[in-house]
Amino acid sequence: MFDRIGCADPEIGEYVKAMEGQISNQFRIVPGFGPNCINSSKSTRINYFEFSNITMMDESNGYDSIAEIYIRGRGRAVNGIGSSTARAWARTFNMGSVILDLGSGTGIPVTKILLEAGLKAYAVDASPKMVADFRQNFPNIPVSCESVERSLFFNRGFDGIISVGLMFLLPEVTQRVLIPKMAATLNPGGKLLFTAPLDKVEWKDAMTEQPSRSLGAEQYRQLILASGLYIGEEFDDEGGNHYFSGIRVSSTNSA
Ligand SMILES: C[S@@+](CC[C@H](N)C(=O)[O-])C[C@H]1O[C@@H](n2cnc3c(N)ncnc32)[C@H](O)[C@@H]1O
Repeated sequence: MFDRIGCADPEIGEYVKAMEGQISNQFRIVPGFGPNCINSSKSTRINYFEFSNITMMDESNGYDSIAEIYIRGRGRAVNGIGSSTARAWARTFNMGSVILDLGSGTGIPVTKILLEAGLKAYAVDASPKMVADFRQNFPNIPVSCESVERSLFFNRGFDGIISVGLMFLLPEVTQRVLIPKMAATLNPGGKLLFTAPLDKVEWKDAMTEQPSRSLGAEQYRQLILASGLYIGEEFDDEGGNHYFSGIRVSSTNSA
């Protein structure tokens, strides 16, 4: 979807042209016929400047704007909070299993832990700055810069999906859609792990100051079950983060 701004003003035209290189996939110039912005009563041949509405939206829930700070801290913490939980979970997979890291940030610590455990990793994050850093850290690992809402998750199945620090950033309705979407992406026997507070609670994210919300354990477990997964083991890490997990029924069990 593109929002259309019609204008023949050469000054604006120059400005918009300068932007074109930076946001080319979200911007285009379309020749047309209509009122120009200098004299709107006069119809004339003009260029329409169209911007994708995505251009104006931050899909990373504020993380792109604080990415530099995040990258210097958590984004470099190879043994950061939750590392031992992610390592223990990673060890439950066979070598070579394929895992998707949603809201991966820089890939440190979580994607790195997956790779060190001999797993294959894919990642999705909506922040262009986080993804740029991820690509420097892991040049050979597929990472897609897009929101989990829009992502097709590489159009493939995964043996595991891990999402640390993402679920509660999303609006309630998005969380309710994301859990079945993740479940449907798991291969038979595949495992899901995500963090969210046990209690139903709302707060302001300390870094971005944007609202966060947990649906609470009862809702998360219901959503996991309703998505066709078994409830898996739950954990708490050294930072007090709670981990919900689910396991997709394997084809032999379901027969
Ligand atoms: C709290 S950070 C966690 C990063 C990483 N998982 C970690 O453990 O350090 C949340 C991450 O989710 C990303 N994010 C936020 N909203 C998103 C969305 N709708 N889709 C994809 N990624 C998103 C942010 O850009 C950020 O990198």
